[in-house]
Amino acid sequence: MTAMTTRYINVEDYRSGARRTLPRSVFELVDSGAGDEITLRENRVVFEAVRLRPRALGDVSSCDIGTTVLGQAISMPVLLAPCGYSRMVHREAEMATGRAAQEAGTVFCLSTVTSFPLEDVARASTGPKWFQLYPPADPDECRKLVERAKAAGFKALCVTIDGATLGLRERDKRNGLTVPMRITPKLLAEGAVRPRWAWDFVRGGVGRGGQGLAGSKSMSIVRAGEAVASVARSVTSKDIEFIREIWDGALLIKGVQRGDEIDELVNLGVDAVIVSNHGGRQLDGVPGAIEILPEVVARAGGRIEVLIDSGFRRGTDIVKALALGASAVLIGRPYLYGLAVNGQAGVEDVLRLLASEIRQTMLLLGYPTIDSIDAAAVSTPATSTQSPHR
Ligand code: FNR
Repeated sequence: MTAMTTRYINVEDYRSGARRTLPRSVFELVDSGAGDEITLRENRVVFEAVRLRPRALGDVSSCDIGTTVLGQAISMPVLLAPCGYSRMVHREAEMATGRAAQEAGTVFCLSTVTSFPLEDVARASTGPKWFQLYPPADPDECRKLVERAKAAGFKALCVTIDGATLGLRERDKRNGLTVPMRITPKLLAEGAVRPRWAWDFVRGGVGRGGQGLAGSKSMSIVRAGEAVASVARSVTSKDIEFIREIWDGALLIKGVQRGDEIDELVNLGVDAVIVSNHGGRQLDGVPGAIEILPEVVARAGGRIEVLIDSGFRRGTDIVKALALGASAVLIGRPYLYGLAVNGQAGVEDVLRLLASEIRQTMLLLGYPTIDSIDAAAVSTPATSTQSPHR
């Protein structure tokens, strides 16, 4: 563990560690974006235009980074985003991620394309968990899946709406990682020079895990890709209306990228939206997520909560989003890097590093609580000509 703490001091270190740990095809499956990866880059670049404005007289003799999201108390404003395929990264996949979230005191959102049955993931940890839904086209199948999530104790449902089809994942194509996923000679050759990963993968049972749609036990990892393909479809207001009828818990919509859709979503009875471009993995050429956050927050007008993901790697990034009106941030790849390097402990360490960076940012910024962080804590190109006291 000493080596862990000295070598891994930020998320980028974990990214490098994941690159060294995973076969190249698997690392690129996690790390890459769609098309020319313009949006993947933009998700990072746009943070540079948001500047922090310290409040020198702010009393930060104590600092609390705890907050609440949809009524759920969490230890820090960072949640774990739904990520399919995580069995490819580590054999304990979502089980380890759920346990890490519990240890850290935050929420884990489980993907529809989970590697393990959702019931098993629910039982593996006691922390608060949400279920991400790619709504099956067949209403009966959709209802069954939602009922399974409810029976298993998931607290909120997060419907992803940016998956009309899979993004243009050219690195996966070049690597021969297709949908459905195949264990190719190339992947085996890459695994040979990543013995730790290969041993972990074999120990987990090559055909086990990656069980497809919400972890129905009949599917093997090879068929997990088929599940991804089968859930790719256009989700409309009619689907959300239907889901709102069958799910009485908190409902989030993930993948919102325009303020002009907020009124409709509020009218449909959703409780929160997640501004997200899927980490630059779906439509290439859309703006970096934080660029459109102010527009969405303004249209939401406090009627629903606004969360955000895509490109968050630093405590400063997270505090910037809070200042622009987000109630919390989700991370995807950062925790997958941690998972790849050191399983549950790696995910926990990534969360710990981010918590420490958030605290340090708040101390230097002069804001002692998450609630106290307001718009004056940042300036953006749109606001920089105005007084910080708005
Ligand atoms: C994802 N993401 C995702 N989203 C979702 O709603 N359902 C899913 O099954 C997946 N699967 C998935 C797999 C992998 C390997 C990655 C990297 C991402 C998107 C994810 O929830 C989130 O929106 C992004 O990961 C956020 O961007 P960062 O934090 O990775 O930059």
